[in-house]
Amino acid sequence: QAAVSSILTKNNITWHEGLLRHERNTLRKQRGFTIWFTGLSASGKSTIATALEQHLLHLGLAAYRLDGDNVRFGLNKDLGFSEKDRNENIRRIAEVAKLFADSSTIAITSFISPYLADRKIARELHAAAAQGNDEALPFIEVFVDIPVEEAEKRDPKGLYKKARAGEIPNFTGISAPYEAPESPEIHIKSHELSVEDSVKKIMEFLLEKKLVP
Ligand code: PPS
Repeated sequence: QAAVSSILTKNNITWHEGLLRHERNTLRKQRGFTIWFTGLSASGKSTIATALEQHLLHLGLAAYRLDGDNVRFGLNKDLGFSEKDRNENIRRIAEVAKLFADSSTIAITSFISPYLADRKIARELHAAAAQGNDEALPFIEVFVDIPVEEAEKRDPKGLYKKARAGEIPNFTGISAPYEAPESPEIHIKSHELSVEDSVKKIMEFLLEKKLVP
């Protein structure tokens, strides 16, 4: 704290002590945390994430979904699909999700996030948010698991077809890797479970962990 204050004073900025996270959670009557969806394109992660967001909002809880498509139109419009760009995509999303979670909001992220190391960084960033009396920010990884053949059969945007034809380079599951989570908090086999039951499974977990009232 003293070190931070002196750095900020040096730059003519005055340090203001903000609310502690647990005070903010109490005032907003909810805990902030991140629900991190990962899975292949067309696995159903955005559909489940959207249904979950709606469910939480109907319960009167603040929830906000960050999604691959919309974030890549704005914040991350400078990034493509090389390994380096995906690393940076996920790094920025993790930072943004952490801010939402710190603001007592339920951050829901829906990105392929194909690399184990990137998801580990996102998890560690939330763990490192523990300060003083404030605990780490909970990070719940949801693996939306589907065999690539099933995702390819769905192919709602025709992207697998294009990838097979060589028109999209570095396509996850075809010409770029997807590293499945080793121990996700929640594992959903989306070709076997309905969207409704997937939301139910996630809600059961959140209730059991007392993350939602
Ligand atoms: S990543 O890997 O997490 O950085 O990807 P993400 O930001 O989630 O973006 C995935 C969506 O971008 C479209 N798209 C591609 N996906 C995979 N590989 C390649 N090369 C690619 N090019 C474009 C695709 O529509 C993904 O959307 P979803 O919703 O996952 O199907």
